Amino acid sequence: MKNPSRYLITAALPYANGPLHLGHIAGAYLPADIYARYQKLRGKDVAFICGSDEHGAAITLRAKKEGVSPQEIVDRYHEINKKAFSDLGIDFSIYHRTSSPEHHETAQAFFKALNEKDAFTIKTTEQFYDEENKQFLADRYITGECPKCHHPNAYGDQCEKCGSTLSPTDLINPKSVLSGNEPVLKETSHWFLPMERHEKWLSEWIQEGTLDGKAQHNPKEWRNQVVGQCMSWINGGLQPRAMTRDLDWGVKVPLENAEGKVLYVWLDAPIGYISATKKWAADNNKNWEDYWKKDDTKLIHFIGKDNIVFHSIIFPILLKEYGDFILPDNVPANEFLNLEGDKFSTSRNWAVWLHEYLEDLPNKEDELRFVLASIFPESKDSEFTWKDYQDRVNNELVAIFGNFVNRVMVLTNKYYKGFVPMAFHLTKEDKAVIKEVKELGKKLGNSLEAYRFREGLTHAMNIARLGNKYLADMEPWKLVNDDPDRVSTIMKVALQITVNLAVAFYPFMPEKARVLKNMLNIKRNLTWKDLGSFTVLQEIERINKPELLFNKIEDSLITEQLNKLEEAKLAHKPHEPIKDEISFEDFTKLDIRVGKIIEAEKVKKANKLLKLTVDIGFEKRTIVSGIAEYYTPEDVLGKHVTVLLNLAPRKIRGVESQGMILMAENNKGELGFVSPIEDRIKEGNSIG
Ligand code: MF3
Ligand code: ZN
Repeated sequence: MKNPSRYLITAALPYANGPLHLGHIAGAYLPADIYARYQKLRGKDVAFICGSDEHGAAITLRAKKEGVSPQEIVDRYHEINKKAFSDLGIDFSIYHRTSSPEHHETAQAFFKALNEKDAFTIKTTEQFYDEENKQFLADRYITGECPKCHHPNAYGDQCEKCGSTLSPTDLINPKSVLSGNEPVLKETSHWFLPMERHEKWLSEWIQEGTLDGKAQHNPKEWRNQVVGQCMSWINGGLQPRAMTRDLDWGVKVPLENAEGKVLYVWLDAPIGYISATKKWAADNNKNWEDYWKKDDTKLIHFIGKDNIVFHSIIFPILLKEYGDFILPDNVPANEFLNLEGDKFSTSRNWAVWLHEYLEDLPNKEDELRFVLASIFPESKDSEFTWKDYQDRVNNELVAIFGNFVNRVMVLTNKYYKGFVPMAFHLTKEDKAVIKEVKELGKKLGNSLEAYRFREGLTHAMNIARLGNKYLADMEPWKLVNDDPDRVSTIMKVALQITVNLAVAFYPFMPEKARVLKNMLNIKRNLTWKDLGSFTVLQEIERINKPELLFNKIEDSLITEQLNKLEEAKLAHKPHEPIKDEISFEDFTKLDIRVGKIIEAEKVKKANKLLKLTVDIGFEKRTIVSGIAEYYTPEDVLGKHVTVLLNLAPRKIRGVESQGMILMAENNKGELGFVSPIEDRIKEGNSIG
């Protein structure tokens, strides 16, 4: 859309069931903030909307695990996330909450309006039910054995071990998380969105950018992965989707006979954008409908790729069915950010948490913004590593941007005691550098308009590169005695380049831009028009004392962060569930004694097995043990070990195994012998 009158920018509402990590930030929030800051700098009317998604089974489950109320969970993480965003300089117009009464009212009214327009169908399906707790079970409330990899604790929607997507009825021996009982199938009715009714207009809108023949957006501006994912859904045939759920936490379905039912995420979270806009508008003397219903508003949804269908198919259907609402002009979804060669994972604690970064590396918010923007997964997955973080800060921010600014400031103080020098005659070189800065500024603007933030950042950094090259080529320090007018002109041009840097980098690093602007003693607000301008410093008499914009990142800091990651991962290794309780009688049936390994050899063609001869004092036993991955025959020869003697003999690889050597795992999954520590206990003695 050319020249919109206002911008409505949304960033996916994060679930308030845990803290944010760098993957979330790079996926949606930082690109959205850069775009919003850029448009505000252009003087545009911007509503930048976000908030906590405070409903859903992930939150109630977490509450149950901790033995607190869901409200307590969302109160906690709403505050943590809100603060972390604000500390990182993510400048939302409002950070709202879906547990607020305004949101509940808006979502219920939206549902009612659609229901009255017959936008839904009601379907009865069978769903798992916990008879003891008298409650239907959300997918996450059911665990059981994975039908694919036989992991004993897969969830009703997914197996975390093998990654398969499941439905609760796929599970072998399903159990309710609430009671531990086997759930029963029971009929329940829900409101479904018959998405198949909307295939035609959706595919036109997504592929051609037209709605009822009217041009809406330029489809070429949409990212390939967004169009691709949507079209593969549409071409595969859209299916009806449940818009309600049986759960006691969420926005209640506002109808009679809908007890125990809430709006499902589709009709809850994105409506949160609308309710947040309403609240912001009410508090700021604005009309929310201007932002959601006027054709000259540009609506952009910033999201990660897991939310593409949600924002490019489902939410548009809801908005269009309601009527009067505009549809998004673009949904610039990012792919995923990985961490040190692996996916971010909350359950495995493989993450750099934003609030921890902000604590561990104080005053380095903009360094993080810079590094993340340099590696945004805009067209494919990308990766954050601490080494790369260090390299980018040291080699680009310190060595290029910081170095240029510092040289200019120091020379200005040295030559002119901080007074802004005069420009006399502009040479061909001066004019060329000025022209190039203007061009880079234009390119930067074009990149940001097109949501190509990485490319934009390169243009911005090229302005600093150009500044360094200009100083190196002009060598003002060689002219100080002979040609003071020329030095004055060069320094003025160089100083004006630093003003351009303050504007160009503002969307990416707002705090550093502010510091730079203060160093230059510029008191008025800079605007996007000042990019490409070489006149700003005419307003300034004298610059302030220089300070370093960036500091080098030391190796020790990187090592610390890497160690922290490894430790956190080990501490969170998911332990095997403890087996069912046994009676004392059961235990005493085990005949456990101490023996000595007197012979050991590898079992042919079996990587894991050792064939051992164990002397238990009064006889010798042959035992096949699966420890060859951890121990060689030499390692174990002569060792005193504990042996379970009365285990029924089994043939393993043709060898009869007459007992079992006892081994145990620690919580890191490392295997070790259960062996006597006292020498006086020798073979033949029973223990336990
Ligand atoms: N909280 C959900 C998620 O993180 C939904 C976010 S998108 C929104 O996936 F539209 F709901 F905000
Ligand atoms: Zn599995």
